[in-house]
Amino acid sequence: MADKVNVLAVCGSLRKGSFNRMLMNASISLAPEGMSIKEAPPWAPIPIYNFDEQNAGWPAPVTAWADALRAADGVLIVSPEYNWSVPGGLKNAIDWISRMKEQPLKDKPVVVQSAAGGLLGGARAQLAWRQSLVSLDVHWFGRPEVIVSFAAQKFDEQGKLKDQTATDMIKAQLAGFEKYVRKLTGKN
Ligand SMILES: Cc1cc2nc3c(=O)[nH]c(=O)nc-3n(C[C@H](O)[C@H](O)[C@H](O)COP(=O)(O)O)c2cc1C
Repeated sequence: MADKVNVLAVCGSLRKGSFNRMLMNASISLAPEGMSIKEAPPWAPIPIYNFDEQNAGWPAPVTAWADALRAADGVLIVSPEYNWSVPGGLKNAIDWISRMKEQPLKDKPVVVQSAAGGLLGGARAQLAWRQSLVSLDVHWFGRPEVIVSFAAQKFDEQGKLKDQTATDMIKAQLAGFEKYVRKLTGKN
């Protein structure tokens, strides 16, 4: 039996009824047998980036977050689109860790998913994430993509994914990501 690929999931939304959190939870439960997905420590307590604060010592929530990312074989970002781009809170957390000497995302396989209320939301956020994260030398996973549009229709009252097409997309993406991570990490 092959070692499981350990994926850390990061949700870009903090709101209670977040569709992206529902999507992340769906991915956790739909992970292939060879993959385990766990949620990352919270990024919400990370302060707004300030070089002077960094100089005074890394804040504990930043190091906890960075350590978890470093330990993962791969990272799954599940992110809403804010103003045709990425949500600032999560971007701020990534800005912090990008300044670390042993940069946690360097050479890390990364895959993105998004859920949005409308038709197009998510596609632009994914492109914006890609643009930023390749600057940190991540290994960006391209396809299959996961974008859950019209999200209100795709989850039930309990926040469970009820849409078969989205379920199939997630399964196909995670299966592809497992292969990608194994190839890059040599984990078998
Ligand atoms: C600050 C802000 C900006 C947004 N900008 C966009 C946008 O550019 N495109 C879009 O499709 N939806 C946009 N939305 C709507 C969100 O995609 C939608 O509320 C989504 O459900 C948020 O994700 P969540 O459910 O995980 O919290 C925006 C929402 C907020 C709060």
